Amino acid sequence: MANLTRDFFIGLSNNKILNANAKKWGFKLGADKFVAGTDINSVVGVVKELNKHGISCTLDNLGEFIFDKSEAAQAKDDILEMIEKIHEEKLDCHVSLKMTQLGLDIDQDFCINNMSEILTAAAKYDIFVNIDMEKYEHYQKTLDVLALLRKDFTNVGTVLQSYLYRTVDDLEDLKDVRLRLVKGAYKESEEVAFQNQEEIDANFIKACEIRLLGDTFTSIATHDHHIINELKQFAKENNVPKDNFEFQMLYGFRTEMQYGLAEEGYNFCTYIPFGNDWFGYFMRRLAERPQNLQLVMKDTFYTKDNKLKKSPLIAGGALIGLFALWRIKKKKD
Ligand code: FDA
Repeated sequence: MANLTRDFFIGLSNNKILNANAKKWGFKLGADKFVAGTDINSVVGVVKELNKHGISCTLDNLGEFIFDKSEAAQAKDDILEMIEKIHEEKLDCHVSLKMTQLGLDIDQDFCINNMSEILTAAAKYDIFVNIDMEKYEHYQKTLDVLALLRKDFTNVGTVLQSYLYRTVDDLEDLKDVRLRLVKGAYKESEEVAFQNQEEIDANFIKACEIRLLGDTFTSIATHDHHIINELKQFAKENNVPKDNFEFQMLYGFRTEMQYGLAEEGYNFCTYIPFGNDWFGYFMRRLAERPQNLQLVMKDTFYTKDNKLKKSPLIAGGALIGLFALWRIKKKKD
């Protein structure tokens, strides 16, 4: 059942029509639990509040499924505006982005030009830019473009996913690059990725330990308290300086733990997504954890005093309808 639910939501996250339409809907289905706002001005307050508690942030102006140069150019302009805002408002904050958002699937040189413009603007204010890692089909391209960009820029890094067999080998080539380590959010085949959670977790810990023993800054991005505790212990035993790493979590997840880690004196960074292109991101979060679905369903169906709402029944009906359609499509495939 868990795999079925995961496949269902990953399937929805990849659906181009739903992604395109969701941009027009505004936040629905409880997406505002995990997506902080619709534009940069609506998230400045969220960042400032976290900064006040010693938590830094990374902002992601959501964007996926871009197959048109004008949309990619718009995404670049939005990111440039975000960089100006980070500087103007003196936010303790860096940038996260996806290269498909900037045209990686359209024209690689065009994407590199967009990235160069962004990195030049960010470097002016000493702002770091992290390239999120997407599906495996983009993995090598992302690393190739990163290598090119690093000839001219030092304020850029990327993400490695521990579900991939090759991750530990890739750490060697990327040992001088600031990295975020994650388990991996997409559905990948057994030719390239571990399918078993224990293997993914073990590989995550192994990759983190290798990095912690190195000299380059690492972001350990997980909500898994078992792993966080194990790595805290490892860092202590090996005298890893606290300035060599940070923990990262997503906005809306385990908020108390986020504050707690910062209070304990660990560097902590919250990943804050915003924008109208929320659907794919939100569906991947539902895929990761069935409890997230319960959480948003409760908010969707019930008022604060536990009375059943009416209009959200339509949203619930829509989800059930989507599930039925997905099952029919799967059978046909
Ligand atoms: P996982 O879902 O494996 O859960 C493990 C255990 O942790 C659970 O069994 C439970 O005990 C506990 N737990 C987890 N979440 C909890 C919660 N909300 N409440 C209570 N307990 C909880 N992926 C990608 O492919 N490319 C990318 O660029 C990124 N970027 C990224 C940035 C950041 C900051 C984060 C945190 C994550 C990503 N990811 C990502 C997503 C990542 O790959 C992964 O899918 C999710 O983080 C889920 O895996 P976890 O390690 O968080 O816990």
